[in-house]
Amino acid sequence: MSLLTAKAIGKNFGGVVALDDVSLTVENGEIVGMIGPNGSGKTTFINNLSGLYAPSNGEFIFNEEDITGLAAHVITAKGISRTFQNLRVFPNISVLENVLVGLHCRINVSLWDVYFRFLKTRKAESQAKEKAMAVLEVADLASRKNDLAKNLPYGKQRLLEICRAIVSDPHLLLLDEPCAGMNPVEMDELADFIKVLQKKGITVFVIEHNMRFIMSVAERIIVLANGAKFQEGTPAQIQNDKKVQAIYLGDEGDI
Ligand SMILES: Nc1ncnc2c1ncn2[C@@H]1O[C@H](COP(=O)(O)OP(=O)(O)OP(=O)(O)O)[C@@H](O)[C@H]1O
Ligand SMILES: [Mg+2]
Repeated sequence: MSLLTAKAIGKNFGGVVALDDVSLTVENGEIVGMIGPNGSGKTTFINNLSGLYAPSNGEFIFNEEDITGLAAHVITAKGISRTFQNLRVFPNISVLENVLVGLHCRINVSLWDVYFRFLKTRKAESQAKEKAMAVLEVADLASRKNDLAKNLPYGKQRLLEICRAIVSDPHLLLLDEPCAGMNPVEMDELADFIKVLQKKGITVFVIEHNMRFIMSVAERIIVLANGAKFQEGTPAQIQNDKKVQAIYLGDEGDI
């Protein structure tokens, strides 16, 4: 059984058909890439999967459970985390606090506990900090835990965003153009980081325009065009596919 099965997903915004009958699977432990021209529906796909929108048609089955149209926080609690196309780091709080934000769905403490700072609260807090620090270690950001997020280089801010998404121990991590704005060195660091996450048991679904990056990190690539699945294959198959090349005709370098 696949970790994720998307069955005939459709999404309409008024008269705009943003997704049309998209079916795909993601297997446990894979790194799957999604590419496609601007406006082809990539972000809409993960917005529907992560509960930001409900699809107009179709079903998402995750871990053998129908999660279609559930609220975003419920889907996060079931083990799907995401980042956004535009950087969403909180600039004026520390690196550590940025990661702790990602744990709020996991900390089981009532308002009453918080008010009196009972033992349970303090224990939960210290466990959360330990967890956040462990994630920062993996991203090589532990030494900057007290810096304001805005003082990190841009590439590190994007890594921090991923740290926030993984601190809740997701099974499936959705990344929406994580390389945007990065230089080539930062992209290589990100590719290495994603492979480390895979080794730690996280399945990764990554949308990206940068061809070099997606080819180096994804094991399987799905191509969207005009809201529909256009092609699927290994990076080499996709790179050499004449039809895929044709939908990008006129674009240079990145796809
Ligand atoms: N909230 C919305 N309301 C109306 N139309 C939307 C909305 N979100 C997306 N769309 C439309 O759906 C289509 C797909 O958009 P989407 O953002 O998913 O594309 P994309 O593949 O992520 O593009 P890009 O590579 O530029 O990020 C576009 O025509 C877009 O204008
Ligand atoms: Mg997008």
